Amino acid sequence: MTETTQIILARRPQGDVTPDCFRLERRALPAPAEGQIVARTLYLSLDPYMRPRMTELHSYTPPFELDRPLTAGSVAEIVESRNPKFAIGDVVVGMLDWATHTLHDGRGLRKIDRAAAPLPAHLGILGMPGYTAYHGMLRMGQPKAGETVFVSAATGAVGQVAGQLAKLKGARVVGCAGDDAKCAYATAELGYDACFNHRRETDYGAVLDRLCPGGIDVDFENVGGAIFHAVFARMKDFGRMVMCGAISEYQDRTPRPGPDKMFTIVQRRLRIEGFIISDHIAGMGEFVAEVGSLLKAGKIRNRETIVDGLDRAPAAFIGLLKGENFGKLLVRVS
Ligand SMILES: NC(=O)c1ccc[n+]([C@@H]2O[C@H](COP(=O)([O-])OP(=O)(O)OC[C@H]3O[C@@H](n4cnc5c(N)ncnc54)[C@H](OP(=O)(O)O)[C@@H]3O)[C@@H](O)[C@H]2O)c1
Repeated sequence: MTETTQIILARRPQGDVTPDCFRLERRALPAPAEGQIVARTLYLSLDPYMRPRMTELHSYTPPFELDRPLTAGSVAEIVESRNPKFAIGDVVVGMLDWATHTLHDGRGLRKIDRAAAPLPAHLGILGMPGYTAYHGMLRMGQPKAGETVFVSAATGAVGQVAGQLAKLKGARVVGCAGDDAKCAYATAELGYDACFNHRRETDYGAVLDRLCPGGIDVDFENVGGAIFHAVFARMKDFGRMVMCGAISEYQDRTPRPGPDKMFTIVQRRLRIEGFIISDHIAGMGEFVAEVGSLLKAGKIRNRETIVDGLDRAPAAFIGLLKGENFGKLLVRVS
């Protein structure tokens, strides 16, 4: 019999997520039935989309269930198997519980080669966030040499890849991040031409006028709110706004108003397009091949924050919503 430790959704947040939204439980897993496996989690990914799933409202995925473990993209090792597709010792990536061990039917789990890349990369630069950046920036934003690209949350899991891909296309890339060290990293290591600290320089219109004097051709939008409004007002003719996320709005109790002067979209012939990366899984192979080679060749960098211990996952997630992570946030579970 396998013992598991799980993080349970104990309460739905009203406003900011607090530690009492989570509860840690230990229990014995039943033995796997025919077709089932037990996976031991090695790394678990913490991502902003989990915040909307903590409410009872259906966003684009169903809410997490109360009094059940939350789920997360994870890298895990198969430790018991009654499923012919998986052998003990296989390493897989897929959605598992916030838990040390998950009993699972194997659906949606993909085997990975331990030697192909460091295991955390499958949840970051070569996984869902990296693919989000690739699809959003290259297929939707389509930056061209000489154009000006803006990336909010510029050093985060998605932003760091989006910014570097735009640079590789020859664009001038400007970002914002939540502290000076992140901004220094963006310019010195990721190749951004400029980056401002959005917590210190809060007159976003003035700072964008200074850093993007001719306007913005491509906005890769991760944050929403006041930064998005300031960018929207500075888009150039035929600009593309890639609507990836709006993390500054995820803990709002009431909806915010959108930008005024919507006629701007017509005047500037803007394309404003949202996307959810899970709709584009069919195109992931091309991304893994391309970004995998860039990573091997040292043409693209990858920064992660790895927290040790499942019991620290709730605090780490609360920190992500305040900008405490630097790069892709992961939990090393075992
Ligand atoms: N559309 C899709 O399919 C898809 C897929 C993945 C992610 N996303 C979205 O992409 C965005 C980035 O996700 P990620 O995984 O790369 O996360 P991340 O950037 O690694 O972590 C979140 C970052 O957001 C910033 N942030 C948090 N609260 C903020 C606030 N109130 N105002 C401004 N910035 C704030 C912080 O960075 P700073 O310290 O720099 O402020 C924080 O580190 C999120 O909006 C997420 O929902 C969308």
